[in-house]
Amino acid sequence: MSNNILKNFETLIDSGSRDEFLLRQIQLDHLPRHIAIIMDGNGRWAGRRNQPRIAGHRAGAEAVRATVETAARLGVGYLTLYAFSTENWKRPRLEVEALMGLLREFLRKEIRSLKQNNIRFQTIGREEALEQAVRRELDHARRETETNTGTVLTVALNYSGRTELTQACRALMLEVQNSGRNPDDINESDIVRHLYTAALPDPDLLIRTSGELRVSNFLLWQIAYSEIYVTETLWPDFRRASLFEAIIEYQKRERRYGGVNGANPGPLLAANMK
Ligand code: FPP
Repeated sequence: MSNNILKNFETLIDSGSRDEFLLRQIQLDHLPRHIAIIMDGNGRWAGRRNQPRIAGHRAGAEAVRATVETAARLGVGYLTLYAFSTENWKRPRLEVEALMGLLREFLRKEIRSLKQNNIRFQTIGREEALEQAVRRELDHARRETETNTGTVLTVALNYSGRTELTQACRALMLEVQNSGRNPDDINESDIVRHLYTAALPDPDLLIRTSGELRVSNFLLWQIAYSEIYVTETLWPDFRRASLFEAIIEYQKRERRYGGVNGANPGPLLAANMK
């Protein structure tokens, strides 16, 4: 375990604690470069406490704060959080307003910590549909952190994977029309260039909380080879240890990208078929 990383957690983690035990199990030279998270379960968390859904979102914002800080201190390169999907507009107006309010509050309160932790903030999704006050706060956070060189925090807002792919196809078609390029020459990297995430590597690890086994229209192209980790933990209960556990599980997996294990591929045919 690199002493530097331990030092990064010195003021946060008690010696002998479970967090320290888990942190020591993480291979720091094999961290997922990009972690994407579908944050789910805020409503259930609130329901179990007989509280309004909005209380669950407020507690969820605290989990966002802890997760962002943990990822940055570990040295994870990219963290992408699914905060508001295009389908979320179907929720009651008051809930949508509360979510936008929490986002603004988070940005106002956390900007100092984002800067201290060298985090660069950005968003993906159709931000133009968000209200002016939210967009102003987003612009401010982007500007204030644009020269930071540590973790890139991407928040997906008014995001839909299908919309992203549709607009990428549209942009690519225009480009092909205007350049007279042969459509037969179009390859995967042409599509990638037109995604919101063109500048990001694909997620290595996709985490979903609250036990649901769905990808919910999130990063549909980008998660083609991501390791998926689903935890029963509801998002507001997701803390430093939860992220450590997800990374430890990821590090136990063997990523083959459709190939076989190079060192030990096993026999191709059963002995009696040769
Ligand atoms: C899913 O829980 C969560 C959301 C739709 C919103 C996520 C928002 C936050 C965590 C708070 C603010 C965000 C930031 C970036 C500060 P759900 O309501 O669908 O839960 P349920 O499935 O239990 O009803």
